[in-house]
Amino acid sequence: MVGKKKPLVVITRKLPDPVETRMRELFDARLNVEDRPMTQPELVAAVKEADVLVPTVTDQIDAALIAQAGDNLKLIANFGNGVDKIDVAAAAKRGITVTNTPNVLTEDTADMTMALMLAVPRRLVEGANVLTGDKKWAGWSPTWMLGRRIWGKRLGIVGMGRIGTAVARRAKAFGLSIHYHNRHRVLPAVEDGLEATYWESLDQMLARMDIISVNCPSTPATFHLLSARRLALLQPSAYIVNTARGDIIDEEALVKLIQDGKIAGAGLDVYEHEPALNSKLLRLAAKGKVVLLPHMGSATLEGRIDMGEKVIINIKAFVDGHRPPDRVLPLRT
Ligand code: 8YV
Repeated sequence: MVGKKKPLVVITRKLPDPVETRMRELFDARLNVEDRPMTQPELVAAVKEADVLVPTVTDQIDAALIAQAGDNLKLIANFGNGVDKIDVAAAAKRGITVTNTPNVLTEDTADMTMALMLAVPRRLVEGANVLTGDKKWAGWSPTWMLGRRIWGKRLGIVGMGRIGTAVARRAKAFGLSIHYHNRHRVLPAVEDGLEATYWESLDQMLARMDIISVNCPSTPATFHLLSARRLALLQPSAYIVNTARGDIIDEEALVKLIQDGKIAGAGLDVYEHEPALNSKLLRLAAKGKVVLLPHMGSATLEGRIDMGEKVIINIKAFVDGHRPPDRVLPLRT
């Protein structure tokens, strides 16, 4: 890959124009102008030929695919923070470096988490639909469209990394008290600044919170972390928000508990079998029990350009023989 020839960089989805323009200048960039998700055979063809692959969350970069990679493929520069769709260990075994795009989507994702945290208890979508629906709005009434207050409530954050901490900062400003569960306790200065309470036991935290926000990565260890057993610990008045990954929650169990009135509702941006959606969730949405978004957490123009810039920096550093800034190492088991 070293030398005068520009590296062949295959980008699996359409990226914002300024990112694609810069990629064309720097690399032999193969773009996906139609933005049609690549099929698995197309991905195989791509990894056989490319020097660098730029996938997104919609691509399955598993061990079987990596095994078919050509000798040229030395870098998988993910356009996204979560690498749950990439078998990083299999890549490492083949000497392929993996990078991601941390930091630049933290604030946008935290904003969307707050939006969902407000949307369900304050009946945002239901209210908006009143004005645009078939029936005419009959006017204000003191007992109509009453939601639940979030100020003064307890927020339990599952996963106090960059995004979890950014959510905590916002939620504190909204008057929520901050609680969190994490593999490791965060620095005392961070805890003090947020006046946050650490719960070593996730079970105990879940049982005492008004709102739960899922902000941990999807890994084998966090698959169904919020299992049917754990979800059953939540109070009937509790809400759950997920802007991380769908498979961290046992979605079927969550649906059942909301249907049965054992959890008040949920705000979801991610789904267990994305992009397929559980039809029961749609029915709950129609009843105002859940607010559903189509994986929009980091979807701002600024964020997506910054993510593209990070991808470019990672590729450029790598092909110039430097260590890319956002290298992802295989998980330690
Ligand atoms: C991105 C995300 O939109 O970066 C992540 O991990 O979940 C998203 O916000 C997506 O991953 C882009 O590939």
